[in-house]
Amino acid sequence: MYKKEISKAVINRLPRYYRYLGDLLEKDVVRISSKELSEKMKVTASQIRQDLNNFGGFGQQGYGYNVEYLHSEIGKILGLDTNYNVIIIGAGNLGQALANYVDFERRGFFVTSIFDISPKLIGTQIRGIPVLSGDELEEYIKNNKVDIAAITVPKTKAPGTAAELAKWGIRGIWNFAPTDLNLPKDVTVENVHLAESLMKLSYRLSGNEDI
Ligand code: NAI
Repeated sequence: MYKKEISKAVINRLPRYYRYLGDLLEKDVVRISSKELSEKMKVTASQIRQDLNNFGGFGQQGYGYNVEYLHSEIGKILGLDTNYNVIIIGAGNLGQALANYVDFERRGFFVTSIFDISPKLIGTQIRGIPVLSGDELEEYIKNNKVDIAAITVPKTKAPGTAAELAKWGIRGIWNFAPTDLNLPKDVTVENVHLAESLMKLSYRLSGNEDI
């Protein structure tokens, strides 16, 4: 409901606010001023106020922000008040690493199955999560609620895999393959490219400003 009106830059900052507020909650901090939050996050206090004003403020003059409330409201904006079923396509190094990471569950993302085409992997389990044959993928998607598919297959296989996933009804793609995916507009793609992040680091190490 918020997404259409809010700028991408603000939405991009929300996960970081969410993480900081989560850390504060763990330390039983009840409230925080925009000044304190700004010092912790190294963002100007006015930026914080401006960002949060997009969502109706949440703060009170002279009181600051109620950490629990702000955390939960930002969580709602990010859609974290729902659980998501995630499947992973490609049970290689990266697919296994994702499946082994338990913290996604804390945020409501549950890996329910992994798919691969290698006979060595089909029938095995990763952290108790079954690795199924790629041949079963269409049937699985028809019979189970799948919200997100992570793509961790080789680059050359990714576009075809993504197109099939879209055709079978998947609307959220978490793409790790270093290639652009051209999918229908109603499919939301989030690309995660560690190599691009490294290139930005290299750019900054060469004496350039943060980008
Ligand atoms: P890997 O070779 O260990 O694993 C790929 C797996 O995909 C294999 O088990 C293979 O049997 C399976 N596979 C191949 N075609 C398939 C299909 N049609 N359906 C289901 N499974 C299939 O490779 P690794 O290291 O896990 O990398 C996977 C992908 O992730 C590559 O595209 C790689 O470039 C990318 N990658 C991306 C990173 C990032 O930052 N986004 C970091 C590391 C890797």
